[in-house]
Amino acid sequence: MSVGVLFVCLGNICRSPTAHGVFQRLVDANGLSDAIVIDSAGTGDWHIGRAPDARTCAAAQQRGYDLCELRARQVTSADFQRFDYILAMDSQNLRALQRLRPHDYRGELALFLNYGQTDEREVPDPYHGDANDFERVLDLIEAAAAGLLQTIQSRHSLPQLRR
Ligand code: 4NP
Repeated sequence: MSVGVLFVCLGNICRSPTAHGVFQRLVDANGLSDAIVIDSAGTGDWHIGRAPDARTCAAAQQRGYDLCELRARQVTSADFQRFDYILAMDSQNLRALQRLRPHDYRGELALFLNYGQTDEREVPDPYHGDANDFERVLDLIEAAAAGLLQTIQSRHSLPQLRR
């Protein structure tokens, strides 16, 4: 049985696809691609079917992440059956997810940055921002992705590669 991780933001074109791509590369590099299944979604429906925002793709590309193949979708209550970790980029999206959460959901519904080492609790929405905001999204997400992987490896007794 694999561990399912779903990253959720508002539009599913900036923050959650970034988290998806960053975490996927980390998981692949650790030889855990079959053990951890990753997806992303948005609480909003405006961008369904679209590729990530061009600024998100460009910033990610600079760090070697290819997000172009991802397509936006909206989160549904069925996601609570498929994913053990549903991780929101900010409190607004966490609240939207809490409203969708079935009473019998036994997984973890939390803010993604709980796994980071920073004092930040939320990944700020970069949609109306500038290039620095997209870099900040990547910085916060890379830090939290490493913490998330360590947590999942120890909780689910997955092998840890030596670095
Ligand atoms: P995301 O960013 O939630 O990180 O994908 C946004 C993308 C689009 C919008 C808001 C935030 N929007 O209002 O269309």
